[in-house]
This record gives sequence, C-alpha cells and structure tokens, in this order.
Amino acid sequence: MSNHTVIPIQATHEDPRLPPLKRQHTARYYAHRVRESLATRVSKVLCTIFLGLLFILGILAFILWLSLRPHRPRFHVIDFSVPGLSQENGFENAQISFNVTVRNPNQNIGIYFDSTGASAYYRNQRIGETPLLYPFYQPPKNTTAIPGVLSGATLNVNTERWKEFMADRATGTVLFRLDITSTIRFKVSTWDSKHHKVHASCDVSVGQDGLILPASRNKRCSLYFS
Ligand SMILES: *[C@@H]1O[C@H](CO)[C@@H](O)[C@H](O)[C@H]1NC(C)=O
Ligand SMILES: *[C@@H]1O[C@H](CO)[C@@H](O)[C@H](O)[C@H]1NC(C)=O
Repeated sequence: MSNHTVIPIQATHEDPRLPPLKRQHTARYYAHRVRESLATRVSKVLCTIFLGLLFILGILAFILWLSLRPHRPRFHVIDFSVPGLSQENGFENAQISFNVTVRNPNQNIGIYFDSTGASAYYRNQRIGETPLLYPFYQPPKNTTAIPGVLSGATLNVNTERWKEFMADRATGTVLFRLDITSTIRFKVSTWDSKHHKVHASCDVSVGQDGLILPASRNKRCSLYFS
C-alpha cells in the first residue's frame, strides 16, 4: 500500500518566484548568478554604510555649527552724563561723557573691532559724533569698556538746542540716544569672517543733575546689522 503514495512530479521544481530551471544551463551560468547576487548584496551594504556615515557627518556638522555659530556682541551703557545741565553756565562748557561696555559672549570666537564710532542724538537729531578707540581684538568671553567724550568740535549744540535741553530738564528728564557703530569680524580659530557693520542703539535718560538715571544704567542696547 505504501508504495502508492503519490509524489508529485513537479515537487522539486517549482517555486513560482524562481525562473524555470532549464537543463541546458551550465555550471558557469550558476556561478555567474551567485557572483552577481553577492555583488548586489555587497553594494547594498556599502551603500548603507555610506549613507550612515553621511548622516553622522551631517549631525556632527550641525553640532559644530551650533557650537561655533557666532553670537552678537552685547552693548550696555554703564555711564552717560551731561555735566553742564546742572551748572549755571552749562552751555559754555557743554560736554557729553559716556562709557559703554561691549561683551563678546562667544565661547570660542574672537571679535575684531576694526573701527568704532559713537554718535549722540537728541530728538532724532545728531548732536555729536566721534571715532572711538583704535582697532582692537576682543578675546572670547571678554568685556571691554568703551569710554568717550563729545565736546568742542565733536559736539554740535547751539543755544537753541541747549534751551530745549533745559526745558526737558525742568520736567525731570532729558532723553538722549547713543549709537555705537562698529565694523567687526569674527575670528574662528584661524578663519576670519567677512566684515559686518553692527549698530548698537542705546536710549539714555539724564536727570536734573546731568547724570544718567538709574533706570538707564546698565541697560542693554538694541542691536542690528547692516
Ligand atoms: C579683555 O581683552 C582685553 C584686550 O585683549 C584685555 O586687556 C582685558 O584684560 C580683557 N578683559 C578680561 C576681563 O579678560
Ligand atoms: C568705564 O567703565 C569701566 C568699567 O566699569 C571702567 O573701568 C573705566 O574706568 C570707565 N571709564 C571711564 C572713562 O569712566
């Protein structure tokens, strides 16, 4: 009875996904096919490794960019005074003194201040202008004071303007604006960036004694690039 078991003839041949076997294929043909699928597999692995490396490099570049990305310098007015406002003949020796700090908040990036200038404004009219310091390099995490004085040729205040100051003073406060303009470059390791023009704009109010009011002291200046 057992030798009646039916063994289907095609059982050894037929996975429908494989191309039909053909008797005339030689050993060389099969060797070739094996080599081919091996090559496909190797190239797939290489491709995966390559894409993986590319991905990791991308992440590293992104992290590097995040940590090296330059932060803008920060300006604060720490002092500003118009001593003449409290004097009898103040107009005769009109003068504005100020002291501004600039901080480089970067961990690894230095800043070259190639040129710096200050202008004082009153009601949006420029009343004085002067260049400041000489070019200087600011190391990372450094704070540098930029003091300056506007008087004589660098201060342009006539008697009319002075009367306006005095009228404001009578109300308790005279408002000025101090603008610091610098041409800077960032220094990352040995690479120097191109020039950027940075403008810090600081509103300051002065009291009847001609000294900066506490509300304006250490105030951060707004900043923009051009
Ligand atoms: C900031 O840098 C200047 C110039 O390089 C240097 O003279 C000064 O000591 C530095 N200040 C601080 C707090 O490191
Ligand atoms: C400006 O401020 C700095 C830091 O507080 C100080 O060392 C320096 O003497 C000040 N300069 C003037 C002219 O007030």
